[in-house]
Amino acid sequence: MTGFADAVDPPFTRSELLVDGPNEQTVELFRASGCRRYAELGVYQGDTAERIADHLAGDGEIHLFDYEDRVSAVAERLRARGHANVVAHPNTWRTFDSYNWSLMALLRRGGAPPFDYVFIDGAHTWAFDALAFLLVDRLLAPGGYVDFDDYHWTLAASPSMSPEAFPPTRRLYTDEQIDAPQVALVVDLLVRPDDRYEELVENKLFRKRPEAR
Ligand SMILES: C[S@@+](CC[C@H](N)C(=O)[O-])C[C@H]1O[C@@H](n2cnc3c(N)ncnc32)[C@H](O)[C@@H]1O
Repeated sequence: MTGFADAVDPPFTRSELLVDGPNEQTVELFRASGCRRYAELGVYQGDTAERIADHLAGDGEIHLFDYEDRVSAVAERLRARGHANVVAHPNTWRTFDSYNWSLMALLRRGGAPPFDYVFIDGAHTWAFDALAFLLVDRLLAPGGYVDFDDYHWTLAASPSMSPEAFPPTRRLYTDEQIDAPQVALVVDLLVRPDDRYEELVENKLFRKRPEAR
């Protein structure tokens, strides 16, 4: 019998993605930052997370956010390499579930902001990532960094998320949303105009000013 959860669209493809190894720019920027408390929203197979973990060499914390099967495979991959400083934050494939729910749980826990470098590389859509940035902002220590992947990305041009490759995209998003660079909307409308953030790498890396709250 098909359960309700199987009858609704997952908002993201379960198929293989065209992710070509680690994001070298992010790895380099993280190294240069000197940060120790890293979070990655959308880890896929963990190529970037593994390089970050190798760099940290057991120091600090690595927080991984993704669908439960993906995040547990990556946590296992890093632990098998000897990295014990990994914290997995899984979510289900239900339509409205995402790393935003896991971020809510961290916010609810309270205490000092837990992250000083967050790489946002998940859904790449306003519906998920506008809220993701606003939550990350609350969880990012002053002086911390937020790093965005793929400023120019669109659903229309994505080899894995275009309506041709992944038909649910046509039901989940309007034509305007399919054509819009949605990471750019998050950066242009929420991050860049915020005086508490300084743009260090155009369209990608922003630093929350040390005096910001
Ligand atoms: C481009 S891949 C990440 C690549 C990875 N950061 C790297 O550098 O190797 C995007 C990831 O975001 C995840 N993602 C997309 N929507 C999500 C959602 N609603 N909840 C959790 N993860 C999501 C996907 O499962 C996928 O693994």
